[in-house]
Amino acid sequence: MTTLSKKTILTGDRATGALHLGHYVGSLKPRVVLQHNHNQTILVADMQGLTDNAFDPQKVSSNILNVVADYLAVGIEPAKTTICLQSKIPALAELTMFYSNLVSVARLERNPTVKNEIQSKSFGRSIPTGFFTYPISQAADITAFRADTVPVGDDQLPMLELTNEIVRKVNRLADRPILTECEPLLSHMPRLPSADGKNKMSKSMGNTISLGSTPKEISAAVKSMYTDPNHVRIEDSGQIEGNVVFTYLDAFCEDQGYVQSLKEQYRRGGLGDGTTKKILEECLQELLLPIRQRREAFLTDRQELANILRAGTDIANAQANDVLSDVKDIYGLNIF
Ligand code: TRP
Repeated sequence: MTTLSKKTILTGDRATGALHLGHYVGSLKPRVVLQHNHNQTILVADMQGLTDNAFDPQKVSSNILNVVADYLAVGIEPAKTTICLQSKIPALAELTMFYSNLVSVARLERNPTVKNEIQSKSFGRSIPTGFFTYPISQAADITAFRADTVPVGDDQLPMLELTNEIVRKVNRLADRPILTECEPLLSHMPRLPSADGKNKMSKSMGNTISLGSTPKEISAAVKSMYTDPNHVRIEDSGQIEGNVVFTYLDAFCEDQGYVQSLKEQYRRGGLGDGTTKKILEECLQELLLPIRQRREAFLTDRQELANILRAGTDIANAQANDVLSDVKDIYGLNIF
């Protein structure tokens, strides 16, 4: 058996909303596992959150400690994972400035994720400069911790590609490997759909089950889930593909053998949507009850959450300052 060598992992979340079930399967669960045998840093990316919320800053500030509570509630341990706040790590902003001299506007315009975002937000030429250049700041985030591994969804791959281009440019300038190239650690969990099945689960769609959702909200969200419109009577045969209830059962039901037997019965006919929804609801209520309780307990002491974030940020600052100093060296700027 081969043992995985210890990796240096950097991940982050824009702090623009409560974390939801999509985050839970896609990134939180893997992070809880990874923290036990790797150096893991999680960045609360409030500066990146502001790149398209500058005129609604509360959306970011009010979520910072909630996101920390979400992390702790799912089992991220501050003793094993460094949780830090982007805006309190000045070296990240400085590195962003140095790196922006190495990236052309044309290169940024080619980023397919940013392209999609510009379209969906109808920015056009009014795109905030900070939003347009956020992939550069993300490269600063990753390189400042000498991360070799970045767990991400596939929408983030263009960011890692740009990061590695910057790394190679800097290392060529320095004539030695100052910065570390990174590799994605792709989540094998496909993105969870929203309840209506039409969109990806995201806070802005207003159809999310967040980690803090009440039992009532969970129940309402499951009841509203899209199933198979042609499955009218219980005895009709039903379709699994595109059926949101089954997608969620796949993602959250521990007993996959049971899910398999439900699918067979559903296809054959004789299993109603009321029943599949009841099974899913039970499973989600059971999953989220302890998480919600822990989250609420952590949120009763916001000072303690801030202390945890501060302690992680202190560690992060030491690492990021070290990288910044190396980069300044290249430019001959460590004059004093
Ligand atoms: N862009 C990421 C997102 O949209 C958040 C993020 C910021 C990030 N900095 C990062 C992710 C560094 C990975 C690495 O969720």
